[in-house]
Amino acid sequence: MYQIYPRSFQDSDGDGVGDLRGVLARVDHLAELGVHAVWLSPFYPSPLADGGYDISDHTGVDPRLGTPADVRALADALHARGMALLLDLVPCHTSIEHPWFREHPERYVWADAPPNNWRAAFGGPAWSRDGRTGRWYLHSFFPEQPDLDWRRPDVVEAMQGVVRFWLGEGVDGFRVDALDRIAKHPDLIDDPSRTAPFPFPQPPDVAALDQRNSSHWVAGLAEPLEALRSAAGGRFLVGEVYRPTAELGPYLEHLDSAFVFELMFAPWRADAVAAVVERGARLARPSWMLSNHDFSRIGSRIGAHQQRAAAVLLLTLPGTAFIYQGDEIGMLDGPGGDPPEDRHGRDGARHPMQWSADPAGGFTTGTPWLPASDPSMRSVAGQRGHPASVLELYRALIRLRSTLKGGLETVTADPGGLLVYRRGDATVALNLGDGERRADVPGRVVVATAPGVDPARLGPGQGVVACAPG
Ligand code: NOJ
Repeated sequence: MYQIYPRSFQDSDGDGVGDLRGVLARVDHLAELGVHAVWLSPFYPSPLADGGYDISDHTGVDPRLGTPADVRALADALHARGMALLLDLVPCHTSIEHPWFREHPERYVWADAPPNNWRAAFGGPAWSRDGRTGRWYLHSFFPEQPDLDWRRPDVVEAMQGVVRFWLGEGVDGFRVDALDRIAKHPDLIDDPSRTAPFPFPQPPDVAALDQRNSSHWVAGLAEPLEALRSAAGGRFLVGEVYRPTAELGPYLEHLDSAFVFELMFAPWRADAVAAVVERGARLARPSWMLSNHDFSRIGSRIGAHQQRAAAVLLLTLPGTAFIYQGDEIGMLDGPGGDPPEDRHGRDGARHPMQWSADPAGGFTTGTPWLPASDPSMRSVAGQRGHPASVLELYRALIRLRSTLKGGLETVTADPGGLLVYRRGDATVALNLGDGERRADVPGRVVVATAPGVDPARLGPGQGVVACAPG
């Protein structure tokens, strides 16, 4: 699967902002890459307090990004090439500018005064005072994103309507946003202090509390998730649940898959990565990702010299793999906007896709909303057809992926950084360490991080997949 952040993928009209027609113009890149589906981050009308995740009309299209007809055209173009289209469903909150906030305030969570110590995911209190009514509303993210009250049948029905609407437009499924926020403790009781640290990044005031009441209220999960499932029928639903792997089970009772965030945040050591992939692989239907629009890119987190090994890992694990746009050409974090576009500091991972070595990377003929990072260093045109490129490695891995069978077996990690595992006939050996390692892999090398890589002398960041048929 391939994640597109539409504002940063391809601009078709020169206004400096990526749009749906831009995506349409680039479907051949996706087909060449060999992905099976595209997940489009939000393109809905939005005041852009949270990069489009603050939606003011869940069944509309932001006119800056296109029209409903463009969504249909994109679905058709992808289907014609054998690919599916997943949209981003954001069921737990709306924009504060959504008409419901004024016309149906009862659909949100209100109190006369902040009733508890809950914190918003980006830091600060999760309750803000509405200037017009003087009452306080709950927001799990920015104050511009009031939480919907999923205990109300009208909220459930409205969101089911959103799902059915887009399925009727030819869409094949959804990535479902922030699902750990769909069910909260009904008595709105305080979150307790944390005794053990949360394993993923959080602002300090959030990290001080255990979000067991403000989110991930397991007793309340089945109903809303079943409602989404019943609206989606058998279509693919992958959940964004910002929780450790061990807590994803109740979500997977209703969803097709859930992201394994542990892979994003594992220290890049063979033992740590081995533990994370073994835990994730036991989920049966994990979705793996190395990067997305919310966090530093994989190459910037672990070092550019390790990003090919990371690509081999991502694309040889059992389950579903998501590639974030630009990772397939080894893009790194950019400097961000000046002033920053995102209040939570996520510009770095949202710089425009680099199609060519032009100063604007072929992204726009205008001024890009975030500057191009380094198109002269890495671009699709600069890498296409070059066997030693990151792009050709991704293509080879995606081709290989469909031939890999079975679960993860015999995972071993040595203290020097060598990670080895098997899937059926295939053995994967990756050097995540800093020194040279020797890997004894049976059979013939079918994909290597670069041409000529020798498993007997794997340098840092190098790796192979070898196959021994029979
Ligand atoms: C997760 C999305 O990926 C992120 O970009 C957004 O800020 C939050 N959910 C809130 O919708």
